[in-house]
Amino acid sequence: MRVLVIGSGAREHALLLALRRDPEVETLAVAPGNAGTAVIADQYDVDITSGDAVATLARRIGADLVVIGPEVPLVLGVADAVRGAGIACFGPSKDAARIEGSKSFAKDVMAAAGVRTATSEIVDNPAHLDGALDRFGPPAGDKAWVVKDDGLAAGKGVVVTADRSAARAHAAGLLDSGHPVLLESFLDGPEVSLFCVVDGEAVVPLLAAQDFKRVGDDDTGPNTGGMGAYAPLPWLPDAVVAQIVDEIVKPVAAELVARGSSFSGLLYAGLAITSRGPAVVEFNCRFGDPETQAVLALLETPLGQLLYSAAIGDLAGEPALQWRDGSAVTVVLAAENYPGRPRVGDVIVGSEADGVLHAGTSRREDGAIVSSGGRVLSIVGTGADLTAAREAAYALINSIRLPGSHFRGDIGLAAAEGRVSV
Ligand code: GLY
Repeated sequence: MRVLVIGSGAREHALLLALRRDPEVETLAVAPGNAGTAVIADQYDVDITSGDAVATLARRIGADLVVIGPEVPLVLGVADAVRGAGIACFGPSKDAARIEGSKSFAKDVMAAAGVRTATSEIVDNPAHLDGALDRFGPPAGDKAWVVKDDGLAAGKGVVVTADRSAARAHAAGLLDSGHPVLLESFLDGPEVSLFCVVDGEAVVPLLAAQDFKRVGDDDTGPNTGGMGAYAPLPWLPDAVVAQIVDEIVKPVAAELVARGSSFSGLLYAGLAITSRGPAVVEFNCRFGDPETQAVLALLETPLGQLLYSAAIGDLAGEPALQWRDGSAVTVVLAAENYPGRPRVGDVIVGSEADGVLHAGTSRREDGAIVSSGGRVLSIVGTGADLTAAREAAYALINSIRLPGSHFRGDIGLAAAEGRVSV
């Protein structure tokens, strides 16, 4: 099988590494990729937001399967163009990708499916903002205001704050730039990312993971695209995972089928495990980053065959997934000033070791690997348990040199110390 992966982050690097372990996968291609993926796949520079460009490339290189990593091409309908060219594609249609692309569509689907989520209100008129802020946030008994961009914002459109003026400033800024705002009630409890391979009503869950969205240790500072993750979750009972699949993911998948927007691809449920049980924070229409880097490090089932089965409508016949024992931890190495405008162009030393996945990297003409984005590398450690996996990840990240870079020191720490419970 010849597989083309679309995207350029550490998530796509992790997908390529897992695909390479599948004996059915003969050749790998990636577009546009980065300095790390160039070593393991043929690399092509095309506009990945163009369905025509991606379908043309897939046909030209004889791809049997296209796997689309990021949300932007999915929301723009690139998967439809690839399928239209007669090539199997792992990724939802433009219609189904609205589960991530439009928070109001997702809320509507969840309401119809009877799935528990935060209460919410869309504000698209600045004159209605203060009244809406009065109805949400601390005075109403919640611990914080939750203010979201209604569209795609790469994880950085969300502000969760107990400071009303900060909540108001974020919402007003979004409205000023023409973006509707979603205000939500605050969901308390530890967060879980559960990735499910979905085809219509067939749902296959992967290992549950947890990511760390704030830039600083102890969940301080602004939100980012994700600073680290670990899997599996020692504190999450299997029964709760089964409950999430049966009471949340399957009803949402069935509701999408009923609406004629059947989902085929990776449905990512972001949840809070509240005192009243799991509740949805958000759905995404693709693998999460950086959780994928940890989850796929433990997958033994051949990934190419799994994704191909989903893409051709055969998922229901797949055997149960096989996982390596132990834990995996991902720690993100970020450039100076990230999540603000990152410093780029610095030489990275030590980025070619096993377990180092590339995101914001490129190769200079002299052959040096340099930083070219905010999240530069994802460092993956595995071990017999979470403590051993953390030690492996932190030993590796401490061996890498990138001027001005930073990372969180507490990825998976609370869980390893038994301080997370439901
Ligand atoms: N881990 C957050 C995301 O992928 O959106």
